[in-house]
Amino acid sequence: INGSIPCEIGNLVNLRDVRISNNQITGSIPHSIGNLTKLEGFYLLNNNINGSIPCEVGNLVNLRDLGISDNQITGHIPHCIGNLTKLETFYLNNNNLNGLLPIDMANLTNLFDLQLFNNNLYGNLPQDLAKGGLLQHLALGNNNFHGLIPVSLKNSTKLFRVRLDRNQFTGDVSQSFGVHPHLVYIDLSFNRLSCTLSPSWGECLNLTSFKISGNKISGQIPREIVQLPKLHFLDISSNNFVGNIPREFGKLSYIFQLNMSNNHLTGTVPQEFGGLSLLEVLDMSSNNLRGEIPIQLENCIKLNSLKLSGNQLSGVIPFQLGNLNLHDVIDLSHNLFIGEMPQQLSKLMELRELNLSHNKLVGPIPSSFQSMTGLMSLDLSYNYLEGPVPENHFF
Ligand SMILES: *[C@@H]1O[C@H](CO)[C@@H](O)[C@H](O)[C@H]1NC(C)=O
Ligand SMILES: *[C@@H]1O[C@H](CO)[C@@H](O)[C@H](O)[C@H]1NC(C)=O
Ligand SMILES: *[C@@H]1O[C@H](CO)[C@@H](O)[C@H](O)[C@H]1NC(C)=O
Ligand SMILES: *[C@@H]1O[C@H](CO)[C@@H](O)[C@H](O)[C@H]1NC(C)=O
Ligand SMILES: *[C@@H]1O[C@H](CO)[C@@H](O)[C@H](O)[C@H]1NC(C)=O
Repeated sequence: INGSIPCEIGNLVNLRDVRISNNQITGSIPHSIGNLTKLEGFYLLNNNINGSIPCEVGNLVNLRDLGISDNQITGHIPHCIGNLTKLETFYLNNNNLNGLLPIDMANLTNLFDLQLFNNNLYGNLPQDLAKGGLLQHLALGNNNFHGLIPVSLKNSTKLFRVRLDRNQFTGDVSQSFGVHPHLVYIDLSFNRLSCTLSPSWGECLNLTSFKISGNKISGQIPREIVQLPKLHFLDISSNNFVGNIPREFGKLSYIFQLNMSNNHLTGTVPQEFGGLSLLEVLDMSSNNLRGEIPIQLENCIKLNSLKLSGNQLSGVIPFQLGNLNLHDVIDLSHNLFIGEMPQQLSKLMELRELNLSHNKLVGPIPSSFQSMTGLMSLDLSYNYLEGPVPENHFF
């Protein structure tokens, strides 16, 4: 269906449900929509609707579901939205909305799903947003919100999925959340959150993804977090974490992606990492780690990408790495590795990228490296290597 929504829709005063999503509707939402006071569901998702949200929407006091996402809506979210106290789901994501979130949004105490991501909304969020305590899904990512994360979230025990990433939220991250037994996914990446992580994250027992990359969070990694029984994906990279990597990491038996890069972590890579049998991606680059690569990593049979660059790791490169399934990246650059390159690495026929530069490696490039036909990038610079370069197409 193309064309615009006719103004005369306002005559259909007994309509309860309008669903015209996934068409090519253009034009703006007519003001006469405010006549449809019996409307309970209004779905315009994924069209080409422009203009702003008419204030008359505030008359639709029986609305439970309002979906206008994936259009080209501009302007502000009107204050009168606060009249829609029965609203349960509200989708405005993927539009061009700007301005502040009206303080009256806090009146929507029945909301359980609020999605405003990918707009240009800015300013502080109402601190009593979701005070009704029913909110399950909150997706505000990729806007310009700043200020504190609403304190009311701390008591929202029904939270299931939360995305506040790519905004400019500030404040003490340990004060913003509490115990959320249903929380499965949280992404707070790329904000300006500070202070430390609260041990109470360890009580969010259903958490599978925890992403806080690119903030200013400091202190040690709480042991409680690395014991979350269902955690699959942990990204705490690009923060100010200090101290040792907790040995309890070995209990994260479901983890498949672990990114702790670009912090100030010290100590060694725990041998307990060998217990992470589903681990596919391990990035601990740009920290202050010392000691040797634990050979127990040979038990991480799914490991696909290993980045340990920019540390002070030493000893020889364990030949056991050649037994793994690494077909993406090995980056051990900028460390203090000694000895010869293990020829077993050549078993990684599919490896795309190998970077052993800036170490203290000696001896020849093993001729068996000829068989590494998957290589797209090889960097062995800044070592003490000698002898001939293997002969194959790549070299
Ligand atoms: C519908 O709304 C329009 C504009 O808001 C108004 O002029 C008109 O009288 C209304 N019609 C009905 C049937 O209520
Ligand atoms: C929201 O609630 C406050 C306080 O109860 C009230 O003053 C305000 O008028 C309400 N806003 C709307 C748009 O209903
Ligand atoms: C959270 O709940 C506790 C206990 O029910 C209450 O004392 C506190 O005021 C609430 N905090 C917020 C921010 O609503
Ligand atoms: C780890 O996070 C950093 C950003 O903090 C990112 O640049 C890097 O690509 C991530 N590592 C992996 C393996 O995804
Ligand atoms: C290898 O790593 C070094 C430092 O970590 C980096 O400067 C260099 O660009 C990398 N080489 C390639 C080919 O990516």
